[in-house]
This record gives sequence, structure tokens and C-alpha cells, in this order.
Amino acid sequence: MRAWYKYFIETNNAGQNACAQDVFAYQSAQMDGYAIDPAYSSAEAFFDRYFLGPDNFRYQVYEQAAKRYCNPNDRILSVGSGRCATELKLQASGYRIDCSDLKKPACIAATKKLFPELSFRELDSLSEYGRQNYDAILSFGVFFTFDDQRGRAFFDHMASFLKPGGRIVMDPGGAAENFLTRFLDDILLPTEAKIIAARKARREARPQKVVRRHHGFRQKDDDIIQLAGAAGFDLLARETSYSEPEFRRSRLFELLADAAPAAESMAHGLFGSLAHNIRLMVFKKTDCPGRHPE
Ligand SMILES: C[S@@+](CC[C@H](N)C(=O)[O-])C[C@H]1O[C@@H](n2cnc3c(N)ncnc32)[C@H](O)[C@@H]1O
Repeated sequence: MRAWYKYFIETNNAGQNACAQDVFAYQSAQMDGYAIDPAYSSAEAFFDRYFLGPDNFRYQVYEQAAKRYCNPNDRILSVGSGRCATELKLQASGYRIDCSDLKKPACIAATKKLFPELSFRELDSLSEYGRQNYDAILSFGVFFTFDDQRGRAFFDHMASFLKPGGRIVMDPGGAAENFLTRFLDDILLPTEAKIIAARKARREARPQKVVRRHHGFRQKDDDIIQLAGAAGFDLLARETSYSEPEFRRSRLFELLADAAPAAESMAHGLFGSLAHNIRLMVFKKTDCPGRHPE
């Protein structure tokens, strides 16, 4: 596990090198503030904007995975649901899902108007215990916010929500810890941010600061599997794919790929799954009485 930082260019230096203290505020800002827009005019417009299309490829992968590993009559809990796009799509196909997040995202009232059957509650997956009454848990793009200690706690808490034999279908969020993501996060992206800030400062004739914020953690698959195992989960399946490869975070790479589209497939050929930002993992709760607090 390695701390994962992102770099922001800001004129006002107030938050320089600040850590993201309020996880929900930081994560929701990363997700467009979970704001409402004209897509909240109809269910069709909502799915067009937030589920369909290449930008939302990861949600389509999640939906397919949930359909493979859950049954429509399962009782399903989604943790860290955010805008609930995948969950609402599954619900439209007959799945019963209780959505949740640390706090109510700004869009929830508008979402409920569009989808009155939406079930949503505030739930901190690291502090609440359940009553072993769910068949499956969905958790997409949440686990990367946890260090190892919290990761272990996450699985303990999830076990308490699941019936024996229950499954977790999850994507930790982002590509794994490896030399490529280390190079991107710790060398290329901060260097690019400094160059962009210097150019912006010259263009706008006012100082620009590069602000480093703690985004989360890069974890290896094996480390996640080990943490899950310690809480009584067996790995059922694992697969990777990508919507926006991690190199796309680099402005330099983006320019290169736009000028020569072959560069992107070459990079994939070269680095394979190292840059894959979708990492589906499916775990099954084993029968370990007494291991899962209620
Ligand atoms: C990157 S967003 C992903 C949202 C949504 N699942 C998606 O894929 O679009 C991560 C979400 O996880 C939530 N989260 C972070 N820590 C959490 C915790 N301990 N318990 C529940 N949710 C958490 C954040 O509030 C945020 O909404």
C-alpha cells in the first residue's frame, strides 16, 4: 500500500499540501459535487448521462459483474454508492438494492423524485455493524480511500452485514500499486503540474501554486485479497479492464495519444494490466462462526 496524492493548481494558497480531512467532502468534490443538472429531467436522460457512453464504461462493467454474481431476488447493500448510477440501472432490471454513502449526496432528493423506489441511507462502512441480512454487497471506487488498517476493518464490517456465503462485488478504485503508477503519481504528474502552474502564472501574471492532496491509497490486489482473507472472505473471481487508462491522467500522454492514437494501444501492449483502472474482485464470506461481530 502506498499513499496516493493528486496535484491541483490553485491561485489561492490557503490549502497548500492539505490532507483530505473530510473524506466525503473531498470525494464528492472529485465526483462533480454529486450536483444535479439537466440529466435529472428524466430517467432516460439520467442513464444517458451517468450510465451509458464510453465515459461511464466502468459503471457498465460493474452492472454486468453484479448481474453475474448476484440474483435478482438477493437482498443487496451498496456501500459508497455516490450518485447510485449502477445501482439504479440494476434496480431498473429488477434488483433490490439499498444504497448508502457517508453522507447524503447533493443529488439524492432529485434522484428520489426520478426514482421514487430508491432506498438510500447514510452509512459509514468503517463504523457500523450489520445484522447478517444481506446476500451481497456492492462497493465500487471506495476501498482505495482506506489504508491497510481501515481496509481490514472494512472487511470485518462488511462480514457483519452478510449472510453466510454472501458475496462482495467490488472495485477498489484505480490501478494497483506498481512501478508504473508510482512513476505517474510520484514523478510525472507532480512535474507536469509544476510546468503547467508556471505557464499559467506567466499567462495570467499572478502566482499559481501546486497543491498536493491526499487522494487515497494504491493497493496491490494480493494485499486486498489478504486483508479480505483475514476477515473470513475467499476470493471467487478477479478481472481487470480499463475505461480511462491511468496514463490518461498525464497531460503529456494525452497530447501524445491525441496526436497519434496508436500510442495508446502501444502503451497498453507494453504495460498490460498495470494501468488498468477497473479491478473487479468478488469475495465470498466463508463459514467462520464468531469471527464476524454483529
Ligand atoms: C469515488 S466515489 C465512488 C462513488 C460511486 N460508487 C461510483 O462508483 O461512482 C467514493 C465514494 O465512497 C464514499 N466513501 C468513502 N469512505 C467511505 C466509508 N468509510 N463508508 C462508506 N462510503 C465511503 C465517498 O463518500 C464517495 O462517495
